[in-house]
Amino acid sequence: MGITAVDHDHQWLDVRFTDGTSSRFLGAWLRDNIGSGRHRNGGQRTFDINDLPPVSITTAVRVADGVTVSFEPEGLQETFDEQWFRQHAQVVPRPHRSLWGAEMQSRLSFEDYPTLLTDPNRLHDWLVGIRDHGFGLLENVPTTPGSILDVVDLFGYVRQTNYGRLFDVREEADPANLAFTKLKIGMHTDNPYRDPVPGLQLLHCLTNESDGGANQLRDGFAVGEQLRNLHPSQFELLSTQPVRFRFFEEGSADLETHVPLIEVDDRGAIRSIRYNSRSIQAFDMPQAIMADFYEAYRTLGESLHDPAGLIEFRLDPGQLMLFDNQRVAHGRSAYEVGARHLQGCYADKDSLNSRIRVLETQR
Ligand code: FE2
Repeated sequence: MGITAVDHDHQWLDVRFTDGTSSRFLGAWLRDNIGSGRHRNGGQRTFDINDLPPVSITTAVRVADGVTVSFEPEGLQETFDEQWFRQHAQVVPRPHRSLWGAEMQSRLSFEDYPTLLTDPNRLHDWLVGIRDHGFGLLENVPTTPGSILDVVDLFGYVRQTNYGRLFDVREEADPANLAFTKLKIGMHTDNPYRDPVPGLQLLHCLTNESDGGANQLRDGFAVGEQLRNLHPSQFELLSTQPVRFRFFEEGSADLETHVPLIEVDDRGAIRSIRYNSRSIQAFDMPQAIMADFYEAYRTLGESLHDPAGLIEFRLDPGQLMLFDNQRVAHGRSAYEVGARHLQGCYADKDSLNSRIRVLETQR
């Protein structure tokens, strides 16, 4: 590997590599990204774009393992090495994600919580599974109330809400939420009325003597991609037309968002799914698109509930599930008799992804 030739004008630098490929770099971008413009600790940039004059490339000379570029009007010289050029010649790929359906049922496994406390490699692999598949399962978590908060310490921080640092999911005498009954709960994502929506949800089973109450998960990204393939116009509608979600509690909370059910990023990749029939509000879009929107909304709902795409499992005491609440929809079957007590809490994905990277540097 190496650099065979460089060429430039006042604005652009062209670098040709020994493998025959070549890449073009903007002078202003090179000047903005000089290595000496970063602090030695942590790599933060030490200047602002406003500190830079409009630059011109005056010379570009091939040196041992890179190219030395001179910039005017500053008279600055900087050497960029080949590896750096190669690293920046391509658009950074988006993180890998593995879509799944009902076939995931046969691959379910519960990781041992005490092991994760002492084995950073196993912790890394468990977190990577959550990043790539959108969920992870644990067992042997102490059934002491509040233990769920210790699980969050494995990778990040609790996202506190008006429900507190954690919340109890069990039957209540006068429930304010269907979750606090024995009723079936349809597939949904939590808290779409928040901005931002909590990225991760944990549910930890303390007691389960019920005759039902199984948990279901469905990969919302798989649902979204299927919709994009089979019904592109419906996907377009759901990913561009905002709807309103709201949570209201007299005197304490009035949370509201106005967002599309499917959010996509600048490259069209699905960034998040919101689906919650309990908190979605009357649609306020033009009547002219209402019929089409309802058709698309129904398709999404049917697909999220499609038994052919779901996984289902029962959480027993000491077991915990953690899932990406912006990707994976969850639900619960009804139960008739028996005590069932789960504790839940929220956390954010940035800390989980950070933890993965830190663990990788320590391997
Ligand atoms: Fe929920």
